[in-house]
Amino acid sequence: MNGAVIRLHVNGQALTVSADDADMSLADYLHERLDLTGTKVCCGIGVCRACTVGIRNRPDALLEKTLACVTTVSTLANQHVYTVESLAQGNRLAPLQQSFLEAFAFQCGYCTPGFLMAATAMLEHLGQYGASAERIDDAIDTWVGGNLCRCTGYVRYKEAIRRVARAKLKGGAGS
Ligand code: FES
Ligand code: FES
Repeated sequence: MNGAVIRLHVNGQALTVSADDADMSLADYLHERLDLTGTKVCCGIGVCRACTVGIRNRPDALLEKTLACVTTVSTLANQHVYTVESLAQGNRLAPLQQSFLEAFAFQCGYCTPGFLMAATAMLEHLGQYGASAERIDDAIDTWVGGNLCRCTGYVRYKEAIRRVARAKLKGGAGS
């Protein structure tokens, strides 16, 4: 990597990354340089999606998702990255986190940050799907369907996400 520094935002904080760190994976950078360990790495090769984080190319863009294990920091210049640590406000969980708890959606929890960030991105795109049960399930399948869980299966995750999606479409508490 050449000597240029990289500027990006992580969870709203502006950062300047040294050229020496540019070839790190985003997952390693989060863990080793920022001490943000909520993003989990399982396969490390872009398959399981445990390491999913959110990303915006500008602050007002809809949230997209990316895989932190196969994304190098050098590709993130001027991007806005969001990890699972960005969801709760102090002690107040985000509606999705609360719903995951209430639905008993996870066991070991290792895959949970990836599910949360994929579903968080999905919720921002929900308007393009529509409010029918089928369309909400289409959205979940599209945005979260590739995330793997070795413990619980997917029924409870799906139900937890569905509850928040329904509330958001109704303009309720889950939005
Ligand atoms: S850790 Fe499996 S896709 Fe990143
Ligand atoms: S809850 Fe253990 S891998 Fe998903």
